[in-house]
Amino acid sequence: MNRHWILAKRPQGDIADGDLVLQTSPIPTPQTDEIVIKVAYLSLDPTNRIWMNEADSYMPSVKLGDPMRGLVAGRVVASQSKAFAVGDMVMGIGSWGDYCVAPASSFMSLPAIPGISLRDIFAIYYLVGPTAYFGLLDIGAPKIGETLVVSTAAGAVGSLVGQIGKAMGCRVIGIAGGTEKCGWITKELGFDGAIDYKSQDVGSELARLCPKGIDIYFENVGGAILDAVLPHMNLFGRIPVCGLISAYNATQAPVGPSNYPVILIQRLKVQGFIVFDFLSRYPEAYRALTQLHLTGQLKWRLHEIAGIEQAESAVRLLYKGDNTGKLLINVGDF
Ligand SMILES: NC(=O)c1ccc[n+]([C@@H]2O[C@H](COP(=O)([O-])OP(=O)(O)OC[C@H]3O[C@@H](n4cnc5c(N)ncnc54)[C@H](OP(=O)(O)O)[C@@H]3O)[C@@H](O)[C@H]2O)c1
Repeated sequence: MNRHWILAKRPQGDIADGDLVLQTSPIPTPQTDEIVIKVAYLSLDPTNRIWMNEADSYMPSVKLGDPMRGLVAGRVVASQSKAFAVGDMVMGIGSWGDYCVAPASSFMSLPAIPGISLRDIFAIYYLVGPTAYFGLLDIGAPKIGETLVVSTAAGAVGSLVGQIGKAMGCRVIGIAGGTEKCGWITKELGFDGAIDYKSQDVGSELARLCPKGIDIYFENVGGAILDAVLPHMNLFGRIPVCGLISAYNATQAPVGPSNYPVILIQRLKVQGFIVFDFLSRYPEAYRALTQLHLTGQLKWRLHEIAGIEQAESAVRLLYKGDNTGKLLINVGDF
């Protein structure tokens, strides 16, 4: 039998009890071009909340009564596709369950990378690593000596962005919630400074920590933090818009940034992106991330929770800042 979560109700604001329901049913069977995966790891990501909304976004929303969509890694246990055989290890867009069935086209082989565990390859190389790498390099276009500011700086994407920025020769300031997270990014990861947005005034701290202004703001939150950053942006600054987590649980449309005119005055480049736009270039990110990691310039921490039954309570951690590192459910072994 298969335990799996379905989307029973659309959350109004924060995810509430009963929005997602754990059900038990027979292990699914694949239709033409589908595979069934025995899930080893489920990635929990801020975007999960976007997929629960009624309106489609960069992907269709999850239909009520359907299994909750999620990124998974595991082993193929049944296949009706020429792309994968039983026993193959894969990662891709599946759903929250001990097993899931999905189109083979939504999956790729789990690459073997010497020195990196299968768990870490899935946790870091499938989503958050390429997001940090391509967002910063392609859109942020960092140059030696420039100042980079990143929000959700102690999170999965943000912590990688800051370290890649340091490796590229930038001065890096992170914005994160709480003294533990701020201490981790400065003492362990080598950020040049940190701002605890929960207890400090972001605008005045940016003025103090970025005396030459900000050349790149890697945007993960939106809202008040974006507004506080904008007045400090330098001429021809870049803002890769990666995420807007402060609004994911909002029940009303967020108020626009009052400092929007800075984009014109300072000729800023503001560009959104979705990491899967870069799928064809993933091997480039794998090589760069691996080299940085194996030379001690790129660290990460995982927040791993055991059991598919924990997925619903675990995903809520992301929106309260209660995750420390890349959030994963350990569903079973590879
Ligand atoms: N564009 C893409 O393709 C792509 C891919 C992956 C992720 N993303 C985006 O990248 C961002 C980070 O994702 P992640 O997977 O690395 O998650 P994460 O940073 O590991 O976890 C989410 C963090 O967001 C912070 N947060 C939550 N609510 C907030 C609020 N109202 N204001 C400010 N910060 C808040 C919390 O950190 P604190 O404790 O510091 O508040 C929390 O720990 C998200 O916006 C996500 O949607 C985009």
